[in-house]
Amino acid sequence: YVTHEGCDHVFFVGFLGAGKSTLARNLGRLYRRRYVDTDRLAERLLRKTVSECFHQDGEGRFRDAETEVLRRLRDERSLLVSCGGGIVEREENCHLMHEMGAVVFLRGSLQDSARQIQHPEKRPDWGSSGETRALFEHRMPLYERTADYIVEITGKSFEQVAQEAG
Ligand code: S3P
Repeated sequence: YVTHEGCDHVFFVGFLGAGKSTLARNLGRLYRRRYVDTDRLAERLLRKTVSECFHQDGEGRFRDAETEVLRRLRDERSLLVSCGGGIVEREENCHLMHEMGAVVFLRGSLQDSARQIQHPEKRPDWGSSGETRALFEHRMPLYERTADYIVEITGKSFEQVAQEAG
């Protein structure tokens, strides 16, 4: 799957805790392709953690770093990219991903993500479960609209998901 830009990345999107990073890392090992994580690349760019950025500079600054990270992937080839859960919030990010390759949405239930949401360092302002459900429901159509492929993860082992996504 090579785009007109000559890029052939695969982007994994989905709600926090859907297992994007784990899948990208393990598929990278399986198919001998380099994998990257936009959160980690953003932290390198920002020289601070995601949480510090949210607290010190605000979400907008983090979102700017996410977009800059995607832009820089245009100079790379054949990456598996695990994307932060909010990357679909910006239309520009969705265009960038489609310019550079295929977008795979790992679709699960809110319960599938619940265990990750208990780690507040992942995203400092995770509020009440009501707010999290509202965010989840806000995001679903954004992932579905952006996805070239959808892989259902609920009730599946990692191997089953990897086989479908691979
Ligand atoms: C976010 C999800 C996080 C990270 C940041 C914002 C979100 O990524 O990008 O905390 O807005 O859903 P993961 O989905 O990899 O945890």
